Amino acid sequence: MVLVTGGAGFIGGNFILDWFDIGPSKQLANLDAITYAGNLATLESIHNNPNYKFYLGNITDKTLVTKILSKVKPRAIINFAAESHVDRSILGPTEFIQTNIVGTFNLLECAREYWNYLEEPKKSEFRFLQVSTDEVYGTIGPNDPPFTEKHPYEPNSPYSASKAASDHLARAWFHTYGLPVLTTNCSNNYGPYHFPEKLIPLCILNALNGKPLPIYGDGQQVRDWLFVKDHCSAIRTVLEKGQLGETYNIGGWNEKANIDVVKQICAILDELRPKSDGKSYAEQITFVKDRPGHDRRYAIDASKIERELGWKPVETFETGIRKTVQWYLDNPKWVEGVVSGSYRQWIVQQYA
Ligand code: NAD
Ligand code: DAU
Repeated sequence: MVLVTGGAGFIGGNFILDWFDIGPSKQLANLDAITYAGNLATLESIHNNPNYKFYLGNITDKTLVTKILSKVKPRAIINFAAESHVDRSILGPTEFIQTNIVGTFNLLECAREYWNYLEEPKKSEFRFLQVSTDEVYGTIGPNDPPFTEKHPYEPNSPYSASKAASDHLARAWFHTYGLPVLTTNCSNNYGPYHFPEKLIPLCILNALNGKPLPIYGDGQQVRDWLFVKDHCSAIRTVLEKGQLGETYNIGGWNEKANIDVVKQICAILDELRPKSDGKSYAEQITFVKDRPGHDRRYAIDASKIERELGWKPVETFETGIRKTVQWYLDNPKWVEGVVSGSYRQWIVQQYA
């Protein structure tokens, strides 16, 4: 039994679906507050699985988290729950401080109390895995080497600062209290069930709906893209084989400028869903005002996790982006639920 937080979001949702695909008899509990980013439609296929239990609630709620831990008795906590969108953190950072910092602090404290009372061998086997981001390292220049785990933390947005703070808390709980913490710092994910506020799903859906494809600034900012299922397999690897107190960078070795990512999406759509007027979707590309404090380049050196734990990504950007575009074309019901907002009604009906 593992306890996942934020499992109704993009990466947590993919992680849970893969978890049951790989080991149908393994158990998993999911604690999620179902913010605007939480979508239980993603988990529809496993909702009635007897090995899956969903808890509606907030990671900042000490009473609830304590109760869940004593009930499900997990061998690990995997903390995906977060406010994750940089642009939202610029408009309103409060929730980022609450969930990412206060929430992680609360989870660490509840985990410490739970772990303190575990008996051996369960005590030695317990893990707290903090899912973090490459954005904590800040930005690098075009010729700089990619981020290693030793790169200093230099967060530049309210989002990345809040994630950096939560990583520091996790680190301190390991060093001070001995809580068996593992931390992963991953690059930009893409793939199925991605909320269309982020660049890739936004551009796929805007393209199909004849809307502008908004490129911030000059579009030359570079991100290192990783297919979400590769991220999920890396997390499972770190959970099983990671050294306590260590951090592992996870990335796809796929650095791309934003404008090239969007052009590639357009080319795939031109092939898979050609426009009736014969024009290219690329004509919808529109340059817009830049994001304040926009980091120019992220790049992950993922050699430590490959060398020490034997993990490397399966997908290239070319294979992963094609699968992603195809997934959005094949799943109009999920897309429609998100775009219309009806995905939020399910929670009201179910938990009124
Ligand atoms: P997401 O925004 O899609 O999902 C976040 C989930 O957390 C949602 O289901 C939401 O309802 C839940 N949540 C938010 N606040 C909560 C709270 N207070 N209590 C309980 N649940 C809460 O995020 P994501 O893209 O799936 O990212 C998951 C994790 O991975 C985050 O920690 C993020 O920082 C990290 N990360 C994301 C990426 C990426 O490219 N998306 C890359 C590296 C790391
Ligand atoms: O690097 C990991 C991070 O990747 C995660 O920690 C975050 O949770 C995740 O949201 C993502 O952050 P980014 O800011 O890099 O992702 P986003 O999809 O918002 O933007 C990707 C790039 O595209 C970035 O340089 C900003 C740019 N962009 C984004 C949007 C939404 C545009 O040019 N236009 C847009 O409309």
